[in-house]
Amino acid sequence: MQGSANLNLMKKAARKVGRALVKDFREVENLQVSSKGPGDFVTRADREAEKMLREELLGGRPTYGFLGEESKETDGADPTRRWIVDPLDGTTNFLHGLPHWAISIALEHKGDIIAGVIFDAAKDEMFWAEKGGGAWMNESRLRVSGRRSMIESIFATAIPFGGKGTLPATLQDLARISPVTAGVRSWGSAALNMAYVAAGRFDGYWARGVQPWDIAAGIVMVREAGGMVSAIREGDDPLVKGSIVACNEPLFEGFRKVVRGE
Ligand code: IPD
Ligand code: CA
Ligand code: CA
Repeated sequence: MQGSANLNLMKKAARKVGRALVKDFREVENLQVSSKGPGDFVTRADREAEKMLREELLGGRPTYGFLGEESKETDGADPTRRWIVDPLDGTTNFLHGLPHWAISIALEHKGDIIAGVIFDAAKDEMFWAEKGGGAWMNESRLRVSGRRSMIESIFATAIPFGGKGTLPATLQDLARISPVTAGVRSWGSAALNMAYVAAGRFDGYWARGVQPWDIAAGIVMVREAGGMVSAIREGDDPLVKGSIVACNEPLFEGFRKVVRGE
């Protein structure tokens, strides 16, 4: 499957930054044992990765806007298109030498996400999707899982850390969801949670307090893999409200009800 020129630009940028981050990740593994730890090094690597993505993406499409986690938003001459980028999603995993992190790049057109790339560089898994073109991992077509029963299904979420305000609600979610499922995973990368739902590895994902760059690429990926995505509350936009439910179609309504506590 051949993607559009935009998609090829996104993949090329993700690969370039992926190579740099894999080198940095090896260094982080060495720094674990040093007394200073890898904190400052990772902060620098993260910022450098976003700088590279900005150069690549705006170099290729100078009129587009740019929203990245590490820098402030830049308006483009074309107000209808913008890149939404997380240079390193799963920073805490990266910092701890855990190979579960990704580069996430989305292209938004008139408020709609039309293409997404989530690159797990440590495992060389390039997840990509384009509206109307399906969802893919490397050269394989992706489909969400076919499970129809919650009790056989695995759901991903984020257990908030560091005193985040979303912790009490998430703990209540867990008390409702864990007993009626085959398990909940909190692996520390929102982007990969979405990619894994698209790949049928997780049956669904929900989260509160997510940012547009965490989920934008994943939205088109899950939908193109045949799944459904919405905010937790009916009618809200996940990119604006920062809450998300992503799931295969048979489980979606039931799962969203459990998430809402209905
Ligand atoms: C975080 C991860 C994490 C999610 C947090 C995000 P970062 O992104 O996606 O899984 O629970 O809400 O902030 O900081 O690693 O880019
Ligand atoms: Ca993130
Ligand atoms: Ca990040």
